[in-house]
Amino acid sequence: MNSTVRFPLEDPLYKAGQAAAEMLQARDRNFSLPQPFYNDEQLFALDMQNIFEKEWLFAGMTCEIPKKGCFLTVNVGDNSVVVVRGEEDSIRAFHNVCRHRGSRLCSKASGKVAKLVCPYHQWTYELDGKLLFAGTDMGSDFDMSAYGLKPVHVRTHGGFIFICLADEPPALDDFGDALSEYVGPHGMDNVKVVAESDIIEKANWKLVIENNRECYHCNGAHPELLNSLYQFDDTEDPRATPEYKQVVERKQNDWESEGVPWRLQRFGQQNRITRTPLVEGTVSMTPDGQQGVGQLMGRLTSPDMGSLRILHLPNSWNHVMGDHAVVFRVIPIGPQETRVTTKWLVNADNQEGVDYDPETLRKVWDATNDQDRQLAEENQRGINSLAYEPGPYSETFEFGIIDFLDWYSQRMLSNLQGLEPELKLANAQ
Ligand code: FES
Ligand SMILES: [Fe+2]
Repeated sequence: MNSTVRFPLEDPLYKAGQAAAEMLQARDRNFSLPQPFYNDEQLFALDMQNIFEKEWLFAGMTCEIPKKGCFLTVNVGDNSVVVVRGEEDSIRAFHNVCRHRGSRLCSKASGKVAKLVCPYHQWTYELDGKLLFAGTDMGSDFDMSAYGLKPVHVRTHGGFIFICLADEPPALDDFGDALSEYVGPHGMDNVKVVAESDIIEKANWKLVIENNRECYHCNGAHPELLNSLYQFDDTEDPRATPEYKQVVERKQNDWESEGVPWRLQRFGQQNRITRTPLVEGTVSMTPDGQQGVGQLMGRLTSPDMGSLRILHLPNSWNHVMGDHAVVFRVIPIGPQETRVTTKWLVNADNQEGVDYDPETLRKVWDATNDQDRQLAEENQRGINSLAYEPGPYSETFEFGIIDFLDWYSQRMLSNLQGLEPELKLANAQ
């Protein structure tokens, strides 16, 4: 599908790719990355090509496009993608690019349409991407069937929509199946988004993920979050206290008897799912730790479901609780700029103002996101200094970052090797 010929001037990127591969091969896995990985334009372009254009990305929730013709758009670097619900509830994704002269089709973040109509010269596409109308002047031998929208791989699992821009997407099934199973009791086919935040962090996307992968900073930074969140989510965690282990055992027995999945599952270093209790006496990440929504999610009968933590690299972490869920999407914008979108979801049967107050519901994570933004931005500023050199991670507190960077390095090295023939071909022209 990708017939784009790379322009020869991309040669410097090939050299940057070789340099990046050498640095990744030479790195110490217990140390942060060399400076260019966090602030260099070319390294950023390589991240976009080799991670964000190759991996499955969390795009949004199926409940955001509830009816035929509803769409949402996601901008992955230069690539705008439209995800649309069509006939018989099918969800498809396309490059948001008109096949006439390339205009973007949908400029809004979301909306509802009967057909996808290009705003430039009104070429019109069916919701399955087929070109329906191309004016009257294209000539009698114009082959409409050759100008459908270019598809993007899309999968849905448990209400989560994933897209992949690669020609051949990597495997997602094992994680996707587990995700569907674990969120099953939360009834993700009957939820609605009741609050949303979109913040721009002036930091490289890897710093945003690194910050999320450790709670070493939580004590000093997150008073609101620590009201309900333990700093660890696994009894094997070296920091897990005997009290935590007891709470876990008790809660896991409760969940087991309700048929609610909880066991930690890892899918390589890329995906991780586990249900962990919230701090004793709390059941939700609300300001007072109490249930913040009248009707619980799905088939649940108790709000005390802890937090189902779902990690999907490179761009999502999530907390699914008894009364609501908070989902997070990370999209890089530039070497030192990242968009973090947070959405709060509740059972769709709840009424605003009666069963929940969106302003109360969002308080804890609004505060936490802003604290994390400041930490990531300060981290970025320091890294930009002449004085920065890779520093050591704590294996006790920061093993999550070590895992993330192992995954990142492995994917980069593997995909960078695939970059070589394409650029060599471009150079030969
Ligand atoms: S660019 Fe879309 S109709 Fe012309
Ligand atoms: Fe944090």
